[in-house]
Amino acid sequence: MNLIHRRLCSSRKWARAVEEQLLPWALEDVSLGPDALEIGPGYGATTRVLLPRVRHLSVVEADASYVTGLRREFGDRAEVLHGDGAALPLPDGRFDSVACFTMLHHVPSPRLQDVLFAEARRVLRPGGVFAGCDALSSWSFRLIHLGDTCVPVPPATLAARLRAAGFGEAEVTVGKGSFRFRAVRGG
Ligand SMILES: C[S@@+](CC[C@H](N)C(=O)[O-])C[C@H]1O[C@@H](n2cnc3c(N)ncnc32)[C@H](O)[C@@H]1O
Repeated sequence: MNLIHRRLCSSRKWARAVEEQLLPWALEDVSLGPDALEIGPGYGATTRVLLPRVRHLSVVEADASYVTGLRREFGDRAEVLHGDGAALPLPDGRFDSVACFTMLHHVPSPRLQDVLFAEARRVLRPGGVFAGCDALSSWSFRLIHLGDTCVPVPPATLAARLRAAGFGEAEVTVGKGSFRFRAVRGG
């Protein structure tokens, strides 16, 4: 992430927006179950909100510098793995839920995003849910990503892409500045 982005994602303002608005909306009516995985936790604003909602939380973060901070903050309260959401170092069928928030646009191509969706499905148990949100593309959104990876997911295409990745049901809702999605792994 570039410097502006790092400042934003580590700010109190972002943490408050995540806790009070973004995650309550993204996870409305989503049952995470006891064993959950988060892909792309960054500085941990989303992880902090997930922790009290599940019995066991694992997170996979691609950037080693964030992994160090996450391990320092969460200790043994979360299993922090350094890895790629598109090549998860985790077994098939383990999780009740997989979540990712405001990270899909950092995955550098639609093809790799589709691989990440298939990986999320692979590590879910049958009936498990993949849920999350990302920002809608806009001029200001692109501006804060100057010099950074930014491949926004068009929400109109997402449900079909999730089904192509093997999910049974998939639902996408567009909100103010963001979209949310949830998809269920069939049997
Ligand atoms: C904009 S941050 C969002 C962090 C957090 N979810 C939040 O909302 O505060 C995106 C994070 O996703 C991570 N990321 C990007 N691609 C990834 C991948 N393929 N696998 C795992 N993490 C990834 C980035 O390193 C970064 O920490």
